[in-house]
Amino acid sequence: CGIVGYIGHQPTAPLLLEGLARLEHRGYDSAGIAVLGSGEGRLRVAKRAGRVRELDGAIAPRYAGRIGIGHTRWATHGPATDANAHPHLDATGRVAVVHNGIIDNASVLREKLIAEGVELASDTDSEVLAHLVARSDAETLEEKVTQALSHVEGTWGLAVLHADFPDRIVAARNGSPLLVGVGEKEMHVASDLAAIVRYTTTVAHLEDGELATVTASGFTTFRADLTRTASVATTLDVDPASYDAGEHASFMRKEILEQPAAAERVLRGRLDERFGTAHLGGLNMDARESRAIRRVKILGCGSAYYVGQMGAGMIEELARIPANAEAASEFRYRNPVIEPDTLYVAVSQSGETIDTLLAVQEIRRKGGRVVGLVNVVGSAIAREVDGGIYLHAGPEVAVASTKALTTMYLAFALLAIQLGRVRDLSISEGRRLVTALQALPEQIQTILDTEEELAAVAHRLAQARSLFFVGRVRGYPVAREGAQKFKEISYRHAEAYQTSELKHGPLALIDPEVPTVALVPHDELTDRNLAALHEIAARRGPLVVITHPDVDLGDLAQHPEVTRIEVPRSERELDPILLTIPLQLLAYHAALTLDLDVDKPRNLAKSVTVE
Ligand code: G6P
Repeated sequence: CGIVGYIGHQPTAPLLLEGLARLEHRGYDSAGIAVLGSGEGRLRVAKRAGRVRELDGAIAPRYAGRIGIGHTRWATHGPATDANAHPHLDATGRVAVVHNGIIDNASVLREKLIAEGVELASDTDSEVLAHLVARSDAETLEEKVTQALSHVEGTWGLAVLHADFPDRIVAARNGSPLLVGVGEKEMHVASDLAAIVRYTTTVAHLEDGELATVTASGFTTFRADLTRTASVATTLDVDPASYDAGEHASFMRKEILEQPAAAERVLRGRLDERFGTAHLGGLNMDARESRAIRRVKILGCGSAYYVGQMGAGMIEELARIPANAEAASEFRYRNPVIEPDTLYVAVSQSGETIDTLLAVQEIRRKGGRVVGLVNVVGSAIAREVDGGIYLHAGPEVAVASTKALTTMYLAFALLAIQLGRVRDLSISEGRRLVTALQALPEQIQTILDTEEELAAVAHRLAQARSLFFVGRVRGYPVAREGAQKFKEISYRHAEAYQTSELKHGPLALIDPEVPTVALVPHDELTDRNLAALHEIAARRGPLVVITHPDVDLGDLAQHPEVTRIEVPRSERELDPILLTIPLQLLAYHAALTLDLDVDKPRNLAKSVTVE
């Protein structure tokens, strides 16, 4: 979900709507704004199920007033309806609240309010906040909000507007990001810099448990007991234009095309040709500490988890340290054994995914050491970890991650080389990999240049009701990521399998209607892979083979149902990243063929900050 707020000298409604449009990737089930009309002392509220543009048609843009809050929702409690859209109001319509997060004791609070005679207007957990603030008998808005929150268990990023306090917005954070943006005689509130970046890049991130009073001339921060905290605003070094799609048809396309540049950025200054190693100062780990690591455990969600699997393979192969990846969302619920000589790695584009953040906190609670591979500077995970590698991918807006994944993969390569070089990886092996890494940005570009061919293949794949993506060992996480992308944005059922496991079950599903996208790099498994492809072709299953120029497909090449896609070779340990790029373009063009919104696939959100 996304939050935006404004107080200052400009007409608020258009500003809020613009902010919401920029936050839409955080949730697009419904949207709404509340504006406090100047002079008349009452709130005007417009909220609708559906996209932000639905609000444009409503009277919202014409609302007068210099103070207001807005929200775009990813539904958790209650379906996407007008009533469940934020802002939520109290019974008198004098208090408006926008909320991200989940209130765990909402049902108890709802029952209590109902018993007290309050009529609830929505099915949401968030609505109780508006009633609790309104019913507080405290004098100031700050006290009303802290009093309300004292009844609440759960997580929140929230902003409160009260008609009796027309000069301020009170904001609060506990587990869900929130920042205050500083302007010239105007101030902003947002859950994400993207919402306000066109107006200011001077911001203060609230800490968990912190609240802020925001007026047109400044802000103060405090804790629940009303003691002041010393939050200061800093100016971030970001280019506002990087948050725009520019001339591109979509953010996803822009981000796919930005990959060579992003790859260069994550590698810049970190490669050492002379000693065939990588320098990752941010890890805060010296050679002795690096050598003491006996195991590596990688945690992430969604695509970040799949890249984590690719990373684990690389670390095990290059550093010879047992490594594996696990879905962060599952990890802490099985009471994991936390070992002092394990290096835990949290991987996240946003640095906000709550499942990953909670896994990090659980590890640290038990005394484990965690480093982060994170894109968003200063995000919750970045602040929580013991050290890390920033990805420098730049802002990523499309829900389906592309350039961030590429930089994650390269950060894992750097980590694997650094860990390897304090162990058994020789200087010449190190140099071989450093040279290969340096070539990757250009190699990625050569794949992007084949977009037209890939679009034609995607056009055909989009017609299938169901597809397989298969690979082996290094290729298997690539297949998982490929299937994930395809289903996320084309809504076609896509399933990833180890090529070797097909014959143990799923081969039963292969027929002329079910295509398989197979990863067949030039490596020690090429022959085994090709044998499995024969088994598919014999069942007349259509095949798209992603392979290297020097792989001979033999008889398969003559097969009418076989399409060959080539990617350049890297060193075999680094091949997965190049195999991933065509899969992004296949998913992207399949979604375009089906006329779907590639940037905002149904039911999903870019960052999931609730469990
Ligand atoms: C969401 C997104 C996925 C993303 C995952 C992890 O589920 O829809 O695309 O891979 O979160 O996000 P993170 O920001 O932690 O990398």
